[in-house]
Amino acid sequence: LKSIKGTYDYFPNEKRVYSFVNQIGKSVSELYGYEEISTPIIEPFELFNRSVGEYSDIVMKEMFTFKDLSGQAICLRPEGTAGVIRAIINEGSTTSTSPTQKYYYSGPMFRYERPQKGRQRQFEQFGAELIGDSHPRSDVEIIDMAYHFIEKLGIPSDQFHLKINSLGDKNSIKTYSDALTEFYQGKIDKLSPDSIKRLQRGNALRILDSKDKGDIEINKDAPLLQNYLSDSCKQRFKSVLEGLDNLGIKYQIDNGLVRGLDYYRHTIFEIIILKDNLAILGGGRYDGLANNIGYKHNEILPSIGWASGIDRILIYINQDIIPKKSNPIGIVIGNQIFSDSAMSLCSRLRKNGFYTVLPTFKLDEENMTKQLKKISKFNPNFVVIFGEDEMKSNSVCIKNMNERTQE
Ligand code: HAM
Repeated sequence: LKSIKGTYDYFPNEKRVYSFVNQIGKSVSELYGYEEISTPIIEPFELFNRSVGEYSDIVMKEMFTFKDLSGQAICLRPEGTAGVIRAIINEGSTTSTSPTQKYYYSGPMFRYERPQKGRQRQFEQFGAELIGDSHPRSDVEIIDMAYHFIEKLGIPSDQFHLKINSLGDKNSIKTYSDALTEFYQGKIDKLSPDSIKRLQRGNALRILDSKDKGDIEINKDAPLLQNYLSDSCKQRFKSVLEGLDNLGIKYQIDNGLVRGLDYYRHTIFEIIILKDNLAILGGGRYDGLANNIGYKHNEILPSIGWASGIDRILIYINQDIIPKKSNPIGIVIGNQIFSDSAMSLCSRLRKNGFYTVLPTFKLDEENMTKQLKKISKFNPNFVVIFGEDEMKSNSVCIKNMNERTQE
């Protein structure tokens, strides 16, 4: 049996890098006051339909959806944000006057995409969400944290760009989307079949994101988002950029950046690896999401966050910063009759916190030379030898493998 297309098995060397990246994510997030949250991998289909958006690519084409035995439509989560907000609404205590909540999470996400470099059907995200603050400086803080995370992974700053844009508020987005619809209607015969679908389904914004060559040409003349932002939205965006300047964070304004999820308002951003034009992190503000999925209060729940694709990070992380495997103590046994003493020492070493390798239990088949050969693959710092001569005086020989001495 083969694994499902777009899913991968990760062996210890890769898992070690995974854990390391997650550890960096956790330690950076905790410096900014974030705490861990975890939500289910399965969620009601309706959650993503109402947040990520009925006409988004994710909901239209990429969700793993099925009916459970009771007939409820369930899906494997394609992202983490909607689940976190659902959890907070269900928990019930959050109102607009609640203190700001800061959460981080990690885990598998699922999208039925065409597998290619850095694009999988099951992938891991590390994400962070800041809930309950609408101030432009909260956008700055969370972008600073995203940047800090990527820097800590040792990816050199000349290899990635932080791209940023503002979608404006609900009204600006609606006005802009109407202008785009009118523009694309005039070019409908030149659009790719996918983009025609997007247009017909009322999602003209998604055409700006199209990778089709013909669409890219057409998009060069498309109306520009910034011309549809209200003055207050422009002012808000300016304030975010000033905040980034103040922290010395380099960014590029990308007026073509719209992101693929419908819940975004105002600031959106991505961190892109330049050589492959691949996003290793994406995020933005999503003030209206909570209301769409059952937040009962009349006011909005201002929120912003980001998520990074760990599988993509694995491709670009600086290998030098990944901690090396630790070096064990090896145990070599010269005769079957010492095996109880050897196992007892081995167990005591482990219980005292020492990583210890006993390379074989089949002492009849593997002599000391074979055992030493096996152990050398683990690069031990020390090897304890239960040899005939030493055991006569109730002692063992300890080899220091780095200094090539023995006692
Ligand atoms: P997203 O841009 O859809 O945003 O995904 C975030 C990151 O997940 C991407 O930048 C990429 O690194 C990784 N990713 C996405 N799809 C795949 C895939 N098929 N294979 C491998 N990696 C992938 C979100 O998911 C939002 N929830 C981010 C957010 C949090 N916005 C606000 N808060």
